[in-house]
Amino acid sequence: MSIQQAATHIQNAKHLVILTGAGVSKESGVPTFRDAMDGLWAKYNPEELATPTAFAKNPKLVWDWYSYRRDLVSRTKPNAGHIALAQLEKTHPDLWLITQNVDDLHEQAGSTRLIRLHGNLAETICYNQCRGGRVPIAPSDFVWDADRTTPPRCPHCHAYLRPNVVWFHEMLPTQALNLAQTVCKNSDVALVIGTSGLVSPASELPYWAKQNGATIIEINPEYSMITRYADIVLNGASGAILPALLEAMA
Ligand code: OAD
Repeated sequence: MSIQQAATHIQNAKHLVILTGAGVSKESGVPTFRDAMDGLWAKYNPEELATPTAFAKNPKLVWDWYSYRRDLVSRTKPNAGHIALAQLEKTHPDLWLITQNVDDLHEQAGSTRLIRLHGNLAETICYNQCRGGRVPIAPSDFVWDADRTTPPRCPHCHAYLRPNVVWFHEMLPTQALNLAQTVCKNSDVALVIGTSGLVSPASELPYWAKQNGATIIEINPEYSMITRYADIVLNGASGAILPALLEAMA
């Protein structure tokens, strides 16, 4: 299937929904979850660090890993794929962009119709959620132990602070998930980019769209769990394919 066919579907879409995963940020220099980690972190598996159990067992290790990731992400910029997706809002002002990513590269590129499923790496919250929910705490309010060897503490209840990301075995934010399910069920074209489709419930969203009769267009250089039921598969990097799609729509 060609870029031109995909472009025609997108052009004619009345309810366009986009789902992105780590692959869309790869060309900005953010490693995906399936990439081997570098340097100090090479011996760890992200799936073993991104859990409440890992934090309970070794809060310093998990806090340091996220600090490393936050620092890495803060040095990246949106790539041509993020920018093309932001431009799609001009022709499709009602689209919804659902992301599993915890970086802010979609916002930096100018996307506004964003649903975040897995939180925001730039934010920090109380481990005990003492204010009732994921209420971000500003760095100026962090309370540090004298030796600064452990994560900072909550200014309200003194529990450890943690990143505002959704860990494995945690619930997704209800409002975001409900909205994502609704827009997928109502969509007629779903563009699924750079996700392995291995992590539920996000991985089920394109299937909701398919059930509704939506055309599923996938962009991914590799086979994924979405590929087997996608109507159009564009094999390649999103930083190259998305601008080409936009050009084909012009
Ligand atoms: P994964 O790391 O599982 O998959 C990344 C996907 O991006 C793979 O299918 C790659 O083939 C594809 N890819 C790589 N380079 C690409 C490129 N240049 N352009 C397009 N695609 C490319 O990432 P996710 O599917 O996002 O969850 O992972 C889902 C969730 O699992 C994450 O949000 C995270 C994770 O563990 C939590 O932290 C809860």
